[in-house]
Amino acid sequence: MRVLKHLFDQNKKWAARIRKTDPDFFTNLSRQQNPEYLWIGCSDSRVPANQIVDVLPGEVFVHRNIANLVIHTDLNCLSVIQYAVDMLKVKHIIVCGHYGCGGIQAAMDNQRHGLIDNWLRHIRDIYRYHQAEIDSLPDEQAKLERMCELNVVEQVANVCHTTIVQNAWKVGQELTVHGWAYRLEDGILKDLDVCAGSAEEITRTHRIK
Ligand code: CO
Repeated sequence: MRVLKHLFDQNKKWAARIRKTDPDFFTNLSRQQNPEYLWIGCSDSRVPANQIVDVLPGEVFVHRNIANLVIHTDLNCLSVIQYAVDMLKVKHIIVCGHYGCGGIQAAMDNQRHGLIDNWLRHIRDIYRYHQAEIDSLPDEQAKLERMCELNVVEQVANVCHTTIVQNAWKVGQELTVHGWAYRLEDGILKDLDVCAGSAEEITRTHRIK
C-alpha cells in the first residue's frame, strides 16, 4: 500500500514539469552536484532554502536545525560545513535566521519545553551577552526581533571560528560567510551586513595562526 499518495502524485507532476523545460535536467544533475552556496537555516517549515531564493535542485547545499545554530561541537553541522567547504568548494556560506522564530521565542520565555531547552540554552547565552541592548528595547516584539538578528550574527561568527573555515582561508580558498534574516510576513530577506571573507575580519581571540 502506498501511503501519502497525494505527495507521490505531486512529485510526479513536479518532475514532469521540470523535464518539460529541460529534458536532461535530472540526468545531468544525477552525475554531479556543484552548488555555490551552503545554507544554514532554521527547520521552520515556512523557511525553505531553495524556494526563498528561487533556485533549482543542485544549487544550494542545505543544513537546517532549530533556530539555525552553529554549535562548536555539533558534528552534524560541522560535517556539513566541512563537506561543503573542502569537497564541494562552495563560495558562500549563508546563515539565514527568520523573524518570528519559535526557537528564539521558546529560549526567551523561561518556560519548560523538554529536551529542546538544552539546545535553546545557546540562544539564552546570546541574550546574556547582549542583555543591556535587548532589555533597553521598548517591547517584546522588538526584543525578539533583535534576538533573531543577534543570533544570526553570533552563528556567522561561529561558522568563521570553525577550523574548517579558517583552514580554507589560510590556503587562499575563496569563501565568504553571510548573515541574513527572513521575514515571514512578506517573504523578504534582509542582509544583516555581517559578511566575513578572511581571518582578519574575525575576532582575534578566535583566530588561528
Ligand atoms: Co525558526
